[in-house]
Amino acid sequence: MKNFIRRRSLILGSAFLISLSASAADGNIDNGQQLSMKGDGSGAPCMACHGPNGEGNAAGNFPYIAGLDEGYLLRQMLAYQTGARTNAVMSMNVDNFDEQQLADIAAYYASLPAPTATAEISDKKQAELGEMLVNNGNWDEYIPACSTCHGPGNRGVDENFPALAGQHAGYIKQQLKAWQNGTRKTDEVQLMEAVAKRLSDEQIDAVAAYLASLPAAK
Ligand code: HEC
Ligand code: HEC
Repeated sequence: MKNFIRRRSLILGSAFLISLSASAADGNIDNGQQLSMKGDGSGAPCMACHGPNGEGNAAGNFPYIAGLDEGYLLRQMLAYQTGARTNAVMSMNVDNFDEQQLADIAAYYASLPAPTATAEISDKKQAELGEMLVNNGNWDEYIPACSTCHGPGNRGVDENFPALAGQHAGYIKQQLKAWQNGTRKTDEVQLMEAVAKRLSDEQIDAVAAYLASLPAAK
């Protein structure tokens, strides 16, 4: 994010830089760390579910949030506040923070290294199906390769396309189902909703398992 801003500002000149750095998305990492340990007053500290290093928890369907893009993290936390995303376990943990506090928290988690642990797939057929869909898609069924948007290695591209590599399979499945059911409405142009609605349960299991097996760390 920071590098991206710097690169862009070189091209577009300092006026652009000034307008970007004045935005609330410019978070304070130290303050974000403090807030993540305290919680928002009504919810639990982030680490209770997302782990001491933001690595998440596969069994609990708690996503890793360490190393995700700052702008993406902020946008998702705001979505829990507005109801564009609803989750009984998560929404209450951020509802009392103001936008600057959320920007600080986003800056903190974005500054942490992405987790290095990856999951194994025991089912060979599932691994093959997952690999095929993630890397090539299935054009007969109008399913584009996930990597065309989620980037090389599915490690994410800017604040719009989050990293999926190494994300916990149960969480990935939960999100694809949320788009199918219409309970996640974060994606204004419905890029993800369109993809999710074309996936069968078997394909969802396969892409989730395969993505969880990819290394997240850059
Ligand atoms: C009680 C458990 C719990 C606590 C505490 C918690 N979370 Fe979560 N968090 C979740 C769950 C479950 C999800 C996935 C919800 C869903 O499916 O939308 C989630 C999702 C998220 C996401 C979306 C990630 C993505 O990839 O889109 C962010 C960001 C997040 N949490 C940040 C935080 C922060 C910051 C805190 C502390 C202020 C926090 N969470 C506290 C359980 C928790
Ligand atoms: C046309 C572009 C595009 C393609 C192709 C695409 N995605 Fe996405 N995906 C997005 C966008 C945009 C978002 C962020 C949505 C938002 O703002 O919440 C996203 C978000 C996600 C998330 C949520 C991640 C998180 O941390 O919460 C999952 C899971 C996901 N995509 C899975 C997939 C899978 C699996 C495929 C391939 C079958 C795929 N995507 C293909 C655009 C795409």
